[in-house]
Amino acid sequence: MNDIVTLRGRHSALLISVGDQADILYWGKALTTSCDRDAHVALARAVPYGRLDVDVPLSLFPESGRGLFSSPALEGHREGRDWSAVFVLREIKQEGQSLTLVSRDAVAGLQLVSEITLDPQHDVLSLRHTLTNLGATPYQVNRLASTLPLPERATECLSFYGRWVHEFQQHRHSLRHGGYQQENRRGRTSHEHFPALVVGNQGFGEQHGEVWGMHLAWSGNHRLRVDVKADGRRFMQAEALYLPGEMSLAQGESLATPWLYASYSPVGLNVMSQHFHGFVREHIVRFPEPKARPVHLNTWEGIYFDHDPAYIMAMATEAARMGVERFIIDDGWFRRRNNDKAALGDWYLDSQKYPEGLEPVIAHVRGLGMEFGLWVEPEMISLDSDLYRQHPDWLLALEGYSPPTGRNQYVLDLQNPAAFAYLCERLDALLGRYAISYLKWDMNREVVQPGHAGRASQQAQVEAVYRLMDWVREHYPQVEIEACAAGGGRIDYEVLKRVHRFWPSDNNDALERQIIQRGFSYFFPPEVMGSHIGATHCHATRRVSDIHFRGITALFGHMGIELDPVRESKQEKAGFSHYIALHKRYRPLLHSGQTLRIDSDDSEQQVIHGVVGADGRQALVMVAQMGMPTYSFSGVLRIPGLQSETRYKVSLIACASNLRSGIVNRQPAWIDTPVELSGEWLAQAGITMPILDPSTAILIELTAV
Ligand code: DGJ
Repeated sequence: MNDIVTLRGRHSALLISVGDQADILYWGKALTTSCDRDAHVALARAVPYGRLDVDVPLSLFPESGRGLFSSPALEGHREGRDWSAVFVLREIKQEGQSLTLVSRDAVAGLQLVSEITLDPQHDVLSLRHTLTNLGATPYQVNRLASTLPLPERATECLSFYGRWVHEFQQHRHSLRHGGYQQENRRGRTSHEHFPALVVGNQGFGEQHGEVWGMHLAWSGNHRLRVDVKADGRRFMQAEALYLPGEMSLAQGESLATPWLYASYSPVGLNVMSQHFHGFVREHIVRFPEPKARPVHLNTWEGIYFDHDPAYIMAMATEAARMGVERFIIDDGWFRRRNNDKAALGDWYLDSQKYPEGLEPVIAHVRGLGMEFGLWVEPEMISLDSDLYRQHPDWLLALEGYSPPTGRNQYVLDLQNPAAFAYLCERLDALLGRYAISYLKWDMNREVVQPGHAGRASQQAQVEAVYRLMDWVREHYPQVEIEACAAGGGRIDYEVLKRVHRFWPSDNNDALERQIIQRGFSYFFPPEVMGSHIGATHCHATRRVSDIHFRGITALFGHMGIELDPVRESKQEKAGFSHYIALHKRYRPLLHSGQTLRIDSDDSEQQVIHGVVGADGRQALVMVAQMGMPTYSFSGVLRIPGLQSETRYKVSLIACASNLRSGIVNRQPAWIDTPVELSGEWLAQAGITMPILDPSTAILIELTAV
């Protein structure tokens, strides 16, 4: 009889049967009763007629060699041999809520180490497999995947899709027969397929339904799938996607899967996100110091490539007046970078634009009490650059082909030690010379034919990017980094171990941002989400939104401004200052509290988002009216997650200036006269919503009295 190993979280548990292989018997709500040997008997499957005569577990590492006819965990071979490995468990080590399993296939000459931990605080499971070639000849790995079996009641899947300026869109599909698969072959995490899936029972929502969510922590090509077998069993699977011949293991060499992070919630998506957010805060993101996230001004949409130090200093002066705390010079500062057609790779200050150097600008910024940040795109090279003229062979490319450019640029081969050393030298020169506290690290193109010495080399390129970031962190530990890849093209937990902020999208349109930020919030806490107030006229959509909608929308992340403050009207500037001040007032709550996404009764037209303080005594809730309200009444807002017996003062903090005077005879009285209501009342009975115009939002504060 197999043993049962139990891993316990606060709210969930994992029961793994270990014998020849490891088989997840149960992954769900924490069990208070201890599980005895009868658990096996209780969950033992029948063996149906008309198929194999034995029960074949859907294990943590499915193998076709055992008769599992689903996507196996490993596909590989040794010159056509050893292609159907069957691993037998040899060693089991449990330490607290972590399990390490060592398995071998003596015939194929392979070893597998599986590490699985259920975080006892945050209920996030981490899983990784490491394959080692014990044989004398190279072993070619085509696929190596992490698999998590799911219960039969998981019948609906939520995935994320998108594109540039349209990231983190949600897609729901039912899981009855066959499966769903998404593949990313773009060489970065991608705008198109954020590497996460959530599976749950039919119709799961923010506050209801069982959900199992997973995220693959990897910034390169990947494949995710969720499959329903003909017998009704189902599983999620995630893997880094290898190009032909990319993974060849010599004797003694190992290959690890990226970490797969997953969490179960019995009460919907919002609690699942709270698990992930807590886990990210404790285990993934590492801020150099525990300080408040400084409000940004980023110059990009303000001046693009048009750099004039005197003007930039004037922008900084205005920014400081509005309460900005970190001033970032975006693209355009380096030699001959006057548009996006040239100069990437030449990481030397443009002395024509900055004849006095960068020092006076930085001194001015710092003199105003702000930190200084600089944009870089180290992985890239323009054909029209000195670097390319000197080192045409430094491209990540395949000889004999002419792959397309992307944003007029190519990718540098970071596995080339000379190219890597050059970037270290340039970053060192910049960070060593200037008082730079922050790097905005961009990556603006997808990767085609990633060839190094003739071989496919996408995986190694991503690892080299990590190494380069690690080099910066090691040598300049105080410098914070923002991951940007034309907006949201590189957002995942593995890069978040090295950076401190994401730029989720080049789309600053508040209406679009509501959707993008909601998608982002499933796996990431708000303090790592860059959210900027852009100009009235959004540069990505040409849509006009008022300052209140833009301000309330940007408030919920790591806030910033992205425009030219010199040219803005007095009234707009007053608006920026107002929302920056509001953000600072609530920043401690926003960046440490529990995210609260609430399903709206008018879900097509409304987005409700909030945060509740860790002690439950304060909350902020935003209601964004996206489109025309479906009904003439806007319904009732019910707010879960507060302390039932505590009374809260409910006050309206921000809204469109015409909330009271728009096309409405009278709004509910509480918007002008704060009410005091219990947490129980707010969760069950709620408060009547005012009638909101499309593209407006309100912000409500709840404070314990
Ligand atoms: C793409 C980024 O997403 C923008 O914010 C900006 O930094 C540009 N690149 C600069 O080229």
